[in-house]
Amino acid sequence: MSLGSAAAPAGTRRTALVTGPTAGIGAAFARQLAQRGYDVVLVARDERRLRDLAADLERDHGVVTEVIVADLADRAALAEVERRVADPTRPVDLLVNNAGFGHKRPFLDNSVEDEQQMLDVLVTAVLRLSHAALGAMVERGSGSIVNVSSVAGFLSRGTYGAAKAYVTSMSRWADANYRGRGVRVMALCPGFTRTEFHARMGVGRGSAPRFLWLDPDRLVRDALADLDHGKSVSVPGKRYKVLTAVARHLPASLLARFQHVGRR
Ligand SMILES: NC(=O)c1ccc[n+]([C@@H]2O[C@H](COP(=O)([O-])OP(=O)(O)OC[C@H]3O[C@@H](n4cnc5c(N)ncnc54)[C@H](OP(=O)(O)O)[C@@H]3O)[C@@H](O)[C@H]2O)c1
Repeated sequence: MSLGSAAAPAGTRRTALVTGPTAGIGAAFARQLAQRGYDVVLVARDERRLRDLAADLERDHGVVTEVIVADLADRAALAEVERRVADPTRPVDLLVNNAGFGHKRPFLDNSVEDEQQMLDVLVTAVLRLSHAALGAMVERGSGSIVNVSSVAGFLSRGTYGAAKAYVTSMSRWADANYRGRGVRVMALCPGFTRTEFHARMGVGRGSAPRFLWLDPDRLVRDALADLDHGKSVSVPGKRYKVLTAVARHLPASLLARFQHVGRR
C-alpha cells in the first residue's frame, strides 16, 4: 500500500528511501537525513509508527514524506518498493537498506520458514532493492546506497552473520564496480546498538558488556560522515574497528567461541 503526502515543492530536492525507520538505527537515519534536507520515503510494516514519524519529520524539518507499508519478506510488497526505488519520474538519490531482525535461538531450533524469512529480509530485500536502485542511479550517473550490515558479518555468528557477510561483501564489490559511474555503495557494520533489536529477539542488554553498546544517533552521524568521505565499509567506534581488524586474522574455530555473546 503506497501512501503519499506533500508538504514542500518538488524540483531539485533530494530524496532518501529508508527501510525500517520505525525504530532504532533506521529512525536515526530518517531523522538525520530529513535534517540534511532530504525528502524521505519511509518503508516498514507498522503503519501507525510510520505515519507518526512522517508527521514529525514534516513538522520539524519541512520535508516531503511518503509512507509505504510493506513487509519486506513478502515478495509482492517488496516488488512495490522496488518499483518506487526504480521510478525514473521520482528519483531516489539515497537508498538505506536498514530493516532487519535476528533470531535468538540457534539454526536447528528455528523452523526453516523462520530462517527463510530472516534471509528474505536481510539478503533478498537488500539484493532486489539494490538492483532496482543501481539500475536507476547508474542511468542517471549519480546516487548512493547504504546497506546496514553488522560486525557479525566478520565473525562466525550463525545464519545472521552469514547474511550480513553477504551484505558487506556485496556492498564492497558494488562500490568498487559502480563508483566510476557516479554511484556509491557503503556497508555500515554496527556492533551492539541500543535499539529495539534485542528486545524484539527476547534478549536482554546484559547479554553483552556495557562498553560494547553504541548509541544509534552517534552511529548514524558517523556513518553519514563516512559516506561523505567515500568509505565503502563503515565500522563505527574504535572498539569495533579493532575487533574487526583482529577478527580477520583469527581462525573460524576460535571466532565460533564468541557466538553466544549477545544472545541471552
Ligand atoms: N541493534 C544492533 O545491535 C545491531 C547491530 C548490528 C546490526 N544491526 C542491524 O541494524 C539494522 C536495524 O536494526 P535495529 O537495531 O535498528 O533494530 P530495530 O530497532 O528492531 O528496528 C528494526 C526495523 O526493521 C523493521 N523491520 C523488521 N522486519 C521487517 C520486515 N519484515 N519488513 C519491513 N520492515 C521490517 C522494523 O519495522 P516494523 O516492525 O515497523 O516493520 C524496524 O523499523 C538491522 O539490519 C540489524 O540487523 C543491528
